[in-house]
Amino acid sequence: MRILGIETSCDETAAAVVENGTKVLTNVVASSVSLHQKTGGIIPEVAAREQLKFILPVIEKALEKQKIDALAVTVGPGLIGSLLVGVETAKTLAYLWQKPLIPVNHLQAHLYANWLEGKKPQFPALGLVISGGHTDLVLLKDHGEIKWLGGTRDDAAGECFDKTARVLGLPYPGGPAIAKLASKGNPQTYDLPRPMMNQENLDFSFSGLKTAVINLKMKKKRIKKADLAAGIQLAIATVVTKKTLRAAEKHRVKSVLLAGGVAANQELRQQMATQMSKNFNLFVPSPQLCTDNAAYVASRAFFNYQPVAWQKIAADPGLSIETDVDAS
Ligand code: KG4
Ligand code: ZN
Repeated sequence: MRILGIETSCDETAAAVVENGTKVLTNVVASSVSLHQKTGGIIPEVAAREQLKFILPVIEKALEKQKIDALAVTVGPGLIGSLLVGVETAKTLAYLWQKPLIPVNHLQAHLYANWLEGKKPQFPALGLVISGGHTDLVLLKDHGEIKWLGGTRDDAAGECFDKTARVLGLPYPGGPAIAKLASKGNPQTYDLPRPMMNQENLDFSFSGLKTAVINLKMKKKRIKKADLAAGIQLAIATVVTKKTLRAAEKHRVKSVLLAGGVAANQELRQQMATQMSKNFNLFVPSPQLCTDNAAYVASRAFFNYQPVAWQKIAADPGLSIETDVDAS
């Protein structure tokens, strides 16, 4: 079965055709990130207008010579203006082409990047979705059986990268900018906190780290930016790895799946590989499948194939990771 996935939850406009949930036939992503760099972050209306500009060309390119059996679209969470572009386009195309349409939860979809390359995960699996808006640990008992275990109480990990990058005068998005600078720095120069790391719960908190960076910047006349970037990256990667390991041990999972933009971070990938490889099968998507794309939307739809009449499908910006949008 070939599914056309459509993803427009934030500032990427994406479409992809995936066969049987695992084989990526086409994967097209248009990003408006360069526009948002000018404003140091995303202005929702600007993102939505860019989605409108890109949506049809991107779908057309993804469909080149491909026959499809169904469509899938991200319905949330995300920015409402951006989501509406994808959802309404998908509904229109499903109606015109008389094809089934599967609504998809963006956060669950991120995890399906791990079904698109090589070896496939086994259940039960632990999922870590770590992106600009979310830091969630979930237990996956099977496709469509997902339980939230813990998450951030304030800023998401990606948000912490983005906000501390801004303090350091680095461009948006902050994660890749901090990672690049960190490669030249000494992570031990500054003593940064590891929020909630030693607490038994599976929650995170990153706003204290952000505040510590702001305070350091205000107190010190001369700051070694590369060292501070390396310190921020190390702090985030260390906390996230430790809590993920704790969750994996507690729930005795077979596989650990990383997903989301921050999973592209090399320090995090390295720490995870060192800590997990002994007892768990660790799955880490290629960096381009960590950040927003539509291939994982199509994959998620295949593995829990539940089409919904287009009249019943609506964008839902506040959707939680546990909500099965296709179960209605
Ligand atoms: O999943 P994503 O593309 O979009 C959503 O938020 O859904 O994630 C974007 C986030 C941004 O906060 C960005 O700074 C972060 O992922 N990011 C990274 C890296 N690449 C992207 N953070 C750390 N290191 C990276 N290499
Ligand atoms: Zn995302």
